[in-house]
Amino acid sequence: MHTARALSDRIRLELMADSQQLAILRQGADVWKRWRKANVARVDLSMPTLEQNLFWDTYAWPRDGDEWAEHPYQVWKRDLVESFIVGNVGEGSIVLEMSPGHGRWTPFLSERAKRYIGVDMNKSCTKFCRKRFSHRSNVEFHTNDGRSVAMIAAGTIHFVWSFDSFVHMECDVTDGYLGEFARILVPGGLCCIHHPGTPNELQRKRGWRSAVSTSLFASMAEGHGLRVLSQVDTWGPNNRSNTKLAGDCISTLEKVSRAVTAEVTEDFWAET
Ligand SMILES: C[S@@+](CC[C@H](N)C(=O)[O-])C[C@H]1O[C@@H](n2cnc3c(N)ncnc32)[C@H](O)[C@@H]1O
Repeated sequence: MHTARALSDRIRLELMADSQQLAILRQGADVWKRWRKANVARVDLSMPTLEQNLFWDTYAWPRDGDEWAEHPYQVWKRDLVESFIVGNVGEGSIVLEMSPGHGRWTPFLSERAKRYIGVDMNKSCTKFCRKRFSHRSNVEFHTNDGRSVAMIAAGTIHFVWSFDSFVHMECDVTDGYLGEFARILVPGGLCCIHHPGTPNELQRKRGWRSAVSTSLFASMAEGHGLRVLSQVDTWGPNNRSNTKLAGDCISTLEKVSRAVTAEVTEDFWAET
């Protein structure tokens, strides 16, 4: 029964992607299998750990990220940019992109922001992006430790964006980054983060999704003073675009201004 359901899930998923896309995904899976074989003695393979995410340092990046395509890709990509980036990146804003990889979303963010900061744990990604965007004067790229953004000062960022990266980060890493976002955001600053939603077993395995879920992400965010404004898996005109193939979710969070609340309370008691 279980096998039959897994098989029909697999057929459905395969039908949802076009054959070219599947070929690219399979290429990626082959690279992953080879890497896993070489590293099998070193790492726990059950979940996408920090160490396993070093995989992206030697990944081939056949289309610099555009290979992870939902269908039809150009419409899907435009809907994503228009729904989550355009309205959230103001002219004078400072933006952090967490884990840009080869910079798939960097043009859309950096052409709108006053300053763009990209932080990735893999050196080859930082190196590639520095070269690819060397013509832009408002961008900078940093390699981090996979857990923090210590190079960014507190209360300086207006918007944090991350796509296709938190889906591979385990709970402790995700929780640590959410704490960092709460530290670096200005009061009222926003984050849009793509992460695992409610993937089934096959989606989690096939999409190499971590154990994070929609509700777990929300409670971790709230724990750091980041209010959950929305959690969606569909967007765009008539909800035509989605991230259902792998059971993912996009959360929009807002940094709650604790300092303002404290000030109001003190004033209130002083006046009464
Ligand atoms: C699937 S790629 C996505 C790249 C890009 N965001 C995109 O949409 O094309 C995942 C990226 O996450 C980065 N990454 C994975 N774990 C990370 C961590 N703990 N801290 C920072 N970057 C990480 C990888 O180096 C890689 O660039």
